[in-house]
Amino acid sequence: MIGLVKKKFYITTPIYYVNAEPHLGHAYTTIAADAIARWHKLKGEDVFFLTGTDEHGEKIEQAAQAAGKTPKRFCDEIAKNFKGAWKALNISYDNFIRTTDVNHVKAVEKTLKMLHGSGYIYKGKYEGMYCVGCERYRTESELVDGKCPDHLKKPEVVSEESYFFSLSKFHNILYQKIKHGDIEIKPDSRRNEILSFLENNKLEDISISREKVKWGIKIPWDDSHTTYVWVDAFLNYITGIGWPNKRFEEYWPADLHLIGKDILRVHATIWPAQLLALGLKAPKKFFAHGYFTIDGQKMSKTLGNVVDPVKLAKEYSSDAVRYYLLREFPFGEDGNFSEREFILKINGELVADLGNLIYRVLTLAEKFKGNIEGQPELDKHLHLDELEHYMENLELHKAIETIWEFVRATNKYINIKEAWKLKDKELSQVIYNLLEACRIISILVSPFMPDTSEKINKQLGVKAGGLKDCKFGEFTGKIKRGGYLFEKVEV
Ligand code: MSP
Repeated sequence: MIGLVKKKFYITTPIYYVNAEPHLGHAYTTIAADAIARWHKLKGEDVFFLTGTDEHGEKIEQAAQAAGKTPKRFCDEIAKNFKGAWKALNISYDNFIRTTDVNHVKAVEKTLKMLHGSGYIYKGKYEGMYCVGCERYRTESELVDGKCPDHLKKPEVVSEESYFFSLSKFHNILYQKIKHGDIEIKPDSRRNEILSFLENNKLEDISISREKVKWGIKIPWDDSHTTYVWVDAFLNYITGIGWPNKRFEEYWPADLHLIGKDILRVHATIWPAQLLALGLKAPKKFFAHGYFTIDGQKMSKTLGNVVDPVKLAKEYSSDAVRYYLLREFPFGEDGNFSEREFILKINGELVADLGNLIYRVLTLAEKFKGNIEGQPELDKHLHLDELEHYMENLELHKAIETIWEFVRATNKYINIKEAWKLKDKELSQVIYNLLEACRIISILVSPFMPDTSEKINKQLGVKAGGLKDCKFGEFTGKIKRGGYLFEKVEV
């Protein structure tokens, strides 16, 4: 018999710069990617989830110097903190790539030689303004009062010999691929931005090496130059699954590159061009999510409002952080983080809706000594098709709302039935529905709140299920009531 081949799903996050400690912005993308990866696992797919750190370039060279450390040691320390943060937030990545990994470095050298050999890299002279914060050249028209609008600093004037990549050759093919959806960009507003950018500007060749910067991958045929950090960084998406090893084809092309809106343009242009020049397939899809502010202000070191996700998870639990970030802002749009709103959500939705439901159901079920059996009644409130639709469209906040409608309907069912007054068969019927609903809720919340799901399963005495188990059947668990899932927090 031929076995069924599982559908593969390859998802990535940006690799984060190690010039600073992980903050809530990095956590946002990574948590979203984790929830999406876990969702695809629930569907029974063969998922590969890649994240990691971007460790070369001038910005990191300078940060290491300011810290009085060698770049390597500096990177080792911060990369470790990123790993620690992802552990604290229960991130289930399959590989954590560092661009200083030997395999990655070798693979980057190989691509450079290939591109040089096929004529896509040539030598020239670059004159321009470089913003170290952005790690890219900026044009006069992008500056505000002569400063980079994102980093509020004057860019450096650079005039040096440089190797160039023939990005201009890919203008038309990229435009066509994006226009026809071979490279999908979501949300649609972002896709339109990229298309109109390509309609109004001609892609120019880009400088891909720096003479001045020492902390980088040396150009293999000219060691007086190091590779431009973005060219090195993009390649993580293929080296992280083993390129040039043939097995990388099991997962390539990526099904989803999840990124913030700040880095969409470079992703949608340079990266697919690099791939096409190497004779590889372009990724299937980019999703650019929005940025959030902290209490209405941009998160920045200068303002001293950088939020540490690990501290937050320690204080309120990692599941509460995961839940709030994905529930609060429509995924794809900008939002605002406020600790007050966060606490209100914990109290209102985690404690009062979900926590309370599990506690009430388990209390009823534990007291009941008869056989638990009945006919499904609550199933009509479970809208799996709608949920699947939202997850496929990456409308994560709506997906959570759909689950919450079911949670609320289940809570309401206890009241409508006045379960505490019932006995025998009638009580069994209600408890059966409640336990099956809780078992299904536990499966559905697992991508968002894996710890909570585990706790519910333990109390119900059931094994972790998949999406195919989200239907009312026979309840076979062994009830063991535990404590409350969430603690109320004082505002
Ligand atoms: N190293 C590059 C990416 C290379 S990918 C081949 C980089 N790193 S970064 O450390 O600056 O991370 C940027 C990403 O962090 C954003 O694209 C976004 O995913 C996330 N965020 C950073 N601040 C954020 C917010 N305030 N809000 C939401 N996401 C934020 O760029």
